[in-house]
Amino acid sequence: MSKTRGDSSQLRARQRLGKYRIERRLAQGGFAYVYQALDTIEGVRVALKMPHQYNVTASMLDTFQREARLVAKLDHPNILPLKDASFIDGRFVITCRLGERTLADRLKNRIAFDTALQLIEQMIDGVAYAHRNKIIHCDIKPENMILLSDGRLQLMDFGIAKVAQRTIVKTMIASGSGTVGYMAPEQAMGRPSARSDVFSLGLIAYKILTGHLPEWPFDWPHSGYATLKRKVHPDLIAVIRRSLEMRPIHRYRDAIDLLKAFRVVKARSLKFAHRHRP
Ligand SMILES: Nc1ncnc2c1ncn2[C@@H]1O[C@H](COP(=O)(O)OP(=O)(O)O)[C@@H](O)[C@H]1O
Ligand SMILES: [Mg+2]
Repeated sequence: MSKTRGDSSQLRARQRLGKYRIERRLAQGGFAYVYQALDTIEGVRVALKMPHQYNVTASMLDTFQREARLVAKLDHPNILPLKDASFIDGRFVITCRLGERTLADRLKNRIAFDTALQLIEQMIDGVAYAHRNKIIHCDIKPENMILLSDGRLQLMDFGIAKVAQRTIVKTMIASGSGTVGYMAPEQAMGRPSARSDVFSLGLIAYKILTGHLPEWPFDWPHSGYATLKRKVHPDLIAVIRRSLEMRPIHRYRDAIDLLKAFRVVKARSLKFAHRHRP
């Protein structure tokens, strides 16, 4: 925080930025500010993501533009679409529709079982679409999933995503992001793959269903297992367990396979939960 105090690049409420009127700051990451703003022309609320002015190097700008280009190509109900990316008053700004809250915020309250399964399916679906397009997200976590008012979940923040088999993930190491709490062990050691995204999805699914986040060294069973056993059909537990295998090769190869496995056991899990309701 102290580093940015007095930083003239920060925007204040009611300040204008092109056609946008800033309402409040939503987040401050290591490299970007995110503001809630009103698009005074379209009359809709948006989220504006922009790099901190003081550290915009050519390579940073490159990273932001890369994120914009990558997301612009994606079109899926569970991926937050880009509204616009452009320079406004000399700053690079990525604009998206404003979401209601993040999955991280939602996790602070109780989630009904049916809702939990819907959220899990949606997040896997979004990542499966990315994987189909040869994109590894590399930063799958509840803070990077936004919920809309109709209950839809959308994946966002492709800032450190990697295009499979093409680039090494230098941006991830450079930015120090890819939060350790939701990161697969091999990714923490610099070797991410689609299987690492699968691991992160497994961790979030476990957290959604039990309230507990499995921790290193990821030995099964994790804390919260009693809750899991009580609520969740053994076949779904098996799917989650396979996603959380320490060795990537023992997991689903990508979210496409995970989605297939999940859909096979979904109906049975719902029935099981209704029968075992306390
Ligand atoms: N479209 C949006 N609607 C609502 N909140 C958003 C939106 N985009 C970003 N945020 C908020 O800003 C935070 C940071 O945005 P993100 O794109 O993940 O950037 P960073 O690279 O800094 O993590 C998110 O965790 C969320 O709280
Ligand atoms: Mg983020």
